[in-house]
Amino acid sequence: MDNVIGSALRQARSAQGMSLRQLARAVHFSPGYLSKVENGAKIPSVELAVACDRVLGISPPIADLAKRLPRRRRPVAHPDTVVPAQLPHAPSGFFGRDTELSALTEWARAEPRGPELRCRVLTGDPDAGKTALAVYFGHSSADVFPDGQLYLDLRGSTAGPLSVQAAHVRLLRGVGVGTGSIPEDPDEALAMYRSLTAGRRLLVVLDDAADADQVRPLLPGGGTCAVLVTSRHRMPDLVVRDGAAEMRIGPVPDTATRDALCAGLGTARVAAEPAATSALIAALDGAPLAIRTAVARLRDEPSRTITGYLAALLAGRAAESPTLRTRAHRRPEIRRPRTLTG
Ligand SMILES: Nc1ncnc2c1ncn2[C@@H]1O[C@H](COP(=O)(O)OP(=O)(O)OP(=O)(O)O)[C@@H](O)[C@H]1O
Ligand SMILES: [Mg+2]
Repeated sequence: MDNVIGSALRQARSAQGMSLRQLARAVHFSPGYLSKVENGAKIPSVELAVACDRVLGISPPIADLAKRLPRRRRPVAHPDTVVPAQLPHAPSGFFGRDTELSALTEWARAEPRGPELRCRVLTGDPDAGKTALAVYFGHSSADVFPDGQLYLDLRGSTAGPLSVQAAHVRLLRGVGVGTGSIPEDPDEALAMYRSLTAGRRLLVVLDDAADADQVRPLLPGGGTCAVLVTSRHRMPDLVVRDGAAEMRIGPVPDTATRDALCAGLGTARVAAEPAATSALIAALDGAPLAIRTAVARLRDEPSRTITGYLAALLAGRAAESPTLRTRAHRRPEIRRPRTLTG
């Protein structure tokens, strides 16, 4: 390959007395990538060429040359950045949520509308299954986001929510920026985050957000990324001002509860106690954690009847079990923390 661009770049850098590392820091690309471009071992991206022109004042601009270089079709991921895969594992035996999953899938697969924000906020009570749904959806739609998935636990429902600065550090590290290259200034960090996510098909999951103020500085700038927020709190401000759309996560339907019981206990065991099964389904009230608890307990004790478990549940003998905590999840509001910590 004729190394016109690499030579022009090295010449301009030397004329400015800049090391590779200094230039790398200024243009937010790795020194290794820059070195390969200078040696002609890598075709520079247009983004890199534009950034080098800007920093070094190269004339004639190498961006014009870079634009004319033959390229593969749109790369699945930026060749020199990490493809993050940060989602935690989805719960085993995931059940229900067909309606929500198809709405999210339709949203994710729709063509981006220019630079418009693509953001869905899953809201619901504690233990409603917001995180489970977001994570499950993220894994199942991985093909729609070939540039990867970023996942951040914002800890908004705890006494120590993640600060914006700490969130920026994690997001930037997630897209491959070394710790030493992350600007301390929050505005600069945000600008770098937007630059590095621009044009990429990334899913950004912001889990357990406290409020719109915690989410807003973490939104990518362009419309190619999709953002999925979960929160115990509704975010009308994000909906009205930024055009996010809210999805309320309620109980799973009774049919899904029945399916989960059948999958966990076997159809025969469930069919043997039809009345007790129906009553248990009603008592579980579509609460995912309560359903999981019932399945786990009954599976652990093959000799226990569904009637017996239901009786224990209704009598409150399982007072220590998460089942009852789940029932408490119908309480509307959890105290919102005031301070943000790193
Ligand atoms: N659809 C589902 N299928 C299987 N398990 C689920 C499902 N939804 C939730 N769970 C399980 O229920 C529990 C609570 O779910 P999750 O953590 O997603 O709730 P949440 O709404 O995010 O709660 P919080 O407000 O506390 O963050 C988890 O153990 C999760 O694995
Ligand atoms: Mg959660």
